[in-house]
Amino acid sequence: MNSQKPDIRFLFKPRGHAVIGASAAPSKIGNSIIRNMIHSGYEGKIFPINPKGGKVFDIPMLTSVDEISEECDLATIVVPAPYVFDAVKDCAKKNIKFLSIITSGFSEVGENKLEREIVTYANNHGMRILGPNIFGIYSAQARMNATFGPPNVTPGNVAIITQSGALGIAMIGKTQVENIGLSSIISIGNKSDIDEADLIEYLVEDEQTKVIFMYMEGVKDGVRLIEVLKKATRIKPVVVIKSGRSKRGAMAAASHTGSLAGADGVFAAIMNQCGVHRAIDIQEALDWCKFLSQNSHPVGENAIIITNGGGVGVLAADACEANNIHLFDDLKTLESAFKESVPSFGSVKNPIDITGGASMIDYEKCIVDAFNHKDIHSIICLGCETSVLTGETFKKTILDIHRTHGAKKPVVYSFVGGKDIEEGIKFLKSEGVPIYSDIGQAVSCLGKIYTDYRNRKSPMDGSSTPSDIANWVDIGKVKEIVKTAKADHRTFLLAHEAQAIMKAANVSIPKSVLATNLKDAISAANDMGYPVVLKIVSKDIIHKSDAGGLALDLQNEKEVIDAYEAVLHNSRRYKPDAHIKGVEVAEMLKPGVETIIGGRYDASFGPVIMFGQGGIYVEVMKDIAFRSITYDKHTIAGMLKDCRSYPLLLGVRGEAKKDIDGVIEVIIKVGLILSGCKDITDIEINPLLAYDEEDGVKAVDVRILLTK
Ligand code: ACO
Repeated sequence: MNSQKPDIRFLFKPRGHAVIGASAAPSKIGNSIIRNMIHSGYEGKIFPINPKGGKVFDIPMLTSVDEISEECDLATIVVPAPYVFDAVKDCAKKNIKFLSIITSGFSEVGENKLEREIVTYANNHGMRILGPNIFGIYSAQARMNATFGPPNVTPGNVAIITQSGALGIAMIGKTQVENIGLSSIISIGNKSDIDEADLIEYLVEDEQTKVIFMYMEGVKDGVRLIEVLKKATRIKPVVVIKSGRSKRGAMAAASHTGSLAGADGVFAAIMNQCGVHRAIDIQEALDWCKFLSQNSHPVGENAIIITNGGGVGVLAADACEANNIHLFDDLKTLESAFKESVPSFGSVKNPIDITGGASMIDYEKCIVDAFNHKDIHSIICLGCETSVLTGETFKKTILDIHRTHGAKKPVVYSFVGGKDIEEGIKFLKSEGVPIYSDIGQAVSCLGKIYTDYRNRKSPMDGSSTPSDIANWVDIGKVKEIVKTAKADHRTFLLAHEAQAIMKAANVSIPKSVLATNLKDAISAANDMGYPVVLKIVSKDIIHKSDAGGLALDLQNEKEVIDAYEAVLHNSRRYKPDAHIKGVEVAEMLKPGVETIIGGRYDASFGPVIMFGQGGIYVEVMKDIAFRSITYDKHTIAGMLKDCRSYPLLLGVRGEAKKDIDGVIEVIIKVGLILSGCKDITDIEINPLLAYDEEDGVKAVDVRILLTK
């Protein structure tokens, strides 16, 4: 037994590579893999294995793994599922480090047990498994195309990790059409062992890889993935497509891969938090990958648009706003920069509009001026077909400009016109010019490079608990309360228990007393001061207002007496067998901004926190934002700002600013409670009332769910 993990570099650069199930029959996958490995010029030694012996592409086949007499780090397994485990055992005897199991018929069809057994055996013998249910791996540095996809893969600097086999194979062809070279393409299929996080960790260090592109269907170990992605995006761009955005798509993805897709809203928010670029479709993803792999970061935020048409200039300006690109607006600098090139009838206000009547010479000069100006950091160069800007003239001009100046700063080009322009775009693309027919797509590429540029400058949010806040919550007390509820076989806390948790976290809650008789209720109300609220307390009645177990805004003792009887009567009628613990007397709160704060264990990503517009319309408004658990105030503030209702906290129509720091503090405490007490699965405070800064916040209704 040797359970030490092998160095993943051997997966990408194996000294020898066995193919178990190699075949002389051209129709077999075991034949295509050998063909592709030879065709790509694999630098190591190939060991085809087939019990019948013979030759494949003139290479003699070994009849068993036992016969391998030289270093062999990787084995591709292409024998039917019932023979895979034996092949894995043979590999262990030869100290093979990595197994790429192409074979289908494991967890994706319910054979989880066999898959687990194989992985456990492999790991216990110092081996790691890629797959099963994959099309293989291509690694440019080893000149190794060990896939059964197309033989020709263009080497380059984009790495692709794909959970879908068929789509991955299709992407080999698609990247060729798009002139994108690959540093590697790795099919992960059922990801029984090696997953995205393992591969990203390697690819981030791999010098040849400039951009990592992932196609995902489901997330298994989201907590580790977050940790790895946060670090990776500081070093190189990561682009992701995840299927299952819709409910229908998520179901298809789940059954396809045997893994559950996380809720899309949480996935989107977490990718954003990690600095990952999420694309909607393959074209968008590949455009980003290509642009990001070929351009370095800008040195500043000042972008300009140069156009010969006002309309496209405005479209681009809109797209800049949507993509968070700052349009340089220092008029004095712009006037002096373009005084020679922009005609008097044009405009030097960004977008710089040379107008349709300007000559190609002016146009060229204007772009070159932009490239040479130190205060301009990036350029969006647009054009509409005119009598002077034709398919022929623009093609030559743009190619010359880009070749001479394109490396100076990030630039994207977009041109609109007929057949000649479209052909010109195709030609320029093939020459490596970042040019797009769609203005939005051009601008989004520049937007992504700016996102990376800013991400790398901002501090990384850590998920570990900073020592200065660790004692914000009395976790011992929290656990004690939860223990009592669990002893009572409950999977939720009663209102007063949830309030006690808030007290343990020093979160302000409305004054409240549990009364078990009318006399106590009256004296509690008198002590508290009017107005007050009465609420039924019963583990059998969750929705108090539905049961008539709630009475609001009681102004005096008489109203308390009437309401006390009514609340008990209604609740008994609503659920005659309900066990009623008493009636809660609470202060009636003055209005504030209603927010909702939550924390829960997500099946894919572990602990996540939530903020949004609270109150009874949460479901309808759906104005909520998520983050993976974090104690970083800046990141949490970003979550607040993601909500449409955020301006309410800043104060509208002359209102004072609300206690935003107080809201952030409660979110941090919810995170601390969730991570400190593993028996709690969900916390929801709705509403958390946010008052003016000096009045703080108040957690009105708190629901806490426990593990089963
Ligand atoms: N060791 C070595 N070779 C063996 C062994 C063994 N223990 N047992 C059998 N072989 C040989 C066979 O004799 C055969 O060689 P031959 O052509 O000379 O007779 C060869 O290995 C292959 O075995 P076959 O029984 O012919 O199996 P076949 O090639 O038809 O299928 C395969 C094997 C491809 C692994 C199949 O079981 C399978 O899983 N197919 C699906 C693969 C797939 O789609 N994966 C996901 C890809 S991703 C996507 O969706 C595209």
